[in-house]
Amino acid sequence: MKNNTLNKCEIIKLVKIENLKGNLTPVYNKIHIPFEVKRLYYLYDVPGGATRGGHAHIGLEQLIVSVMGSFDVVLDDGRSKRKFTLNRAYIGLYIPQYIWRELENFSSGAICLVLASEFYKESDYIRDYNEFLQIKIK
Ligand code: TYD
Repeated sequence: MKNNTLNKCEIIKLVKIENLKGNLTPVYNKIHIPFEVKRLYYLYDVPGGATRGGHAHIGLEQLIVSVMGSFDVVLDDGRSKRKFTLNRAYIGLYIPQYIWRELENFSSGAICLVLASEFYKESDYIRDYNEFLQIKIK
């Protein structure tokens, strides 16, 4: 897992059930996404110019969805970086373990939904970028 690269990060197009009265997106564990969801959380009221994230995870996998508005996710595997702009409620970005992420450029009113494979545990975070690089080049 420490060797995970940007190749393992992917945009997942979710199901969109369209209706004149509004659209709906269902997400099933291990069917639409490659892991079991233990927790979800959402970021909202993000002030203009704020950057979230700034860490990698040891054991946790995530799917990030912009359910409202837009923001950028910059992924980094220690060798290269790639920026994804999320702005659709039926598009998810899958991030496996040991990938550094920064979330930035939030539009006003944006809501970032995160589906996560683990409960919150601070010891699962790598919050020091140099430490992250050390782990990745070992
Ligand atoms: P953090 O994951 O660092 O936020 P982000 O990556 O979006 O910038 O979490 C911010 C704070 O919230 C931190 O003190 C931990 C706490 N937190 C929880 O208590 N439970 C959770 O499920 C999450 C995601 C964070």
